Amino acid sequence: MGTGYVGTTTALTLCELGHQVIGYDVDPLKIASLQNKNLHFYEPGLKDLLVKHLHSGNIRFTENIKQAVQQSEIIFICVGTPQNDDGSANLEYVQQAATMIGNYLNNYKVIVNKSTVPVGTAEKVTKWIHDSMVSPIQYDVISNPEFLKEGTALADSLNPERIVIGSHSEKATDKMKNLYSKFKTTFVHTTPQTAELIKYAANSFLATKISFINEIARLCENVNVDVKDVAFGIGLDSRIGSSFLQAGIGYGGSCFPKDVLALLSTAQQNNTNLSLLEKTYSINNTQPFYFIEKIKNKLKDIKGKNIAILGLSFKPHTDDIRESPALKIIEELYKQSANIFVHDPVAKLPKILSQKITQIHSIHSLPENTDALIICTDWPEYETFDWLQVKQKMRNPYIFDGRNMLNASNMTKLGFYYDGIGYRQ
Ligand code: UGA
Repeated sequence: MGTGYVGTTTALTLCELGHQVIGYDVDPLKIASLQNKNLHFYEPGLKDLLVKHLHSGNIRFTENIKQAVQQSEIIFICVGTPQNDDGSANLEYVQQAATMIGNYLNNYKVIVNKSTVPVGTAEKVTKWIHDSMVSPIQYDVISNPEFLKEGTALADSLNPERIVIGSHSEKATDKMKNLYSKFKTTFVHTTPQTAELIKYAANSFLATKISFINEIARLCENVNVDVKDVAFGIGLDSRIGSSFLQAGIGYGGSCFPKDVLALLSTAQQNNTNLSLLEKTYSINNTQPFYFIEKIKNKLKDIKGKNIAILGLSFKPHTDDIRESPALKIIEELYKQSANIFVHDPVAKLPKILSQKITQIHSIHSLPENTDALIICTDWPEYETFDWLQVKQKMRNPYIFDGRNMLNASNMTKLGFYYDGIGYRQ
């Protein structure tokens, strides 16, 4: 239930494991698109698998909830859990899904919470199903959080580093073990509450690693050190690990910003002060503005300057712009009356911004007299641009690399003024 990134990737992964899957969504347009072999979002590799399994017959999509529920042994709830105004997770769609399951439950089933949900949600889902059931039927609700990343969703899902199963029922656990029996990985068996917290703690820890290195990057700039060297040096320690130590303009996307706030909200509701996580959040909020300050210091006055933004999505290999730090930078520069041009290989400007800002489809369409280029997303193709040609279009050959992706000394040799995050000038 729910055919977004998580639902569709989970469905196709299960097909690869040899299972029969039915995809259901409340949005008929999404179902129609999937039935027609089209994804309604960009995710590398997923479309090929969709075509393969529509052909193999392992997957089908339906708008008929009764059939979807009644013909399944295991039901995955993969719907969104957006953010409430107070930062807590909104369980409206999870409740809707649970109610529909209750309405049509016809025999024993395992209901799996795949959506990222706060501690205690499995219990709530159990109750919502119970309250909407027509006649008493046995079922179990378990938690099986997802750890896939957008952009590499398929590879992550097909090669999980661990599978967490939070269940009070031996019968349900056995069914899940059986479902995933082809995976050679570590299975972590816990209570549903523990599994729910593992998901939030994992995302919050990764977000904290990013905010940590972003704060160290600020220090690096004041003590003439390159943060990339520091990240490399500490990352070789296996207790620290090298991943998620790339300094930049902050984390975005549909997960970290929302999940950090939701965990803070859970902590508050349970009289716990997560002060480290509060800092993670505030450092991330200030990071794009910290970067803009550097740009302002160099350009002096932003007003009327021609500024090109490279990258709109919150990370490469996705068209997702939710909570993208690029948007914060664009909005701030717009407020300061810059002329902004945006490039992204796949992501599109939201409607509200596309009326005010121009999206260019090739770097060759850069305006004459460009005053600065700002890299907001580390799309690999930016590494291989013909930078000399780009330079010819620029009034001021300034590059501000918000993802530290280019080689600083090469860019300087080409005649650019280059600045990154935590970079020694
Ligand atoms: C994240 C987690 O990494 C997944 O494990 C989790 O399953 C997923 O959320 C989820 O909860 O559904 P995702 O948001 O797709 O995955 O993307 P990430 O690769 O984690 O990147 C998040 C943000 O952090 C991006 O804006 C990225 O640019 C930024 N980032 C990442 C850094 O600034 N520095 C780094 O070193 C790594």
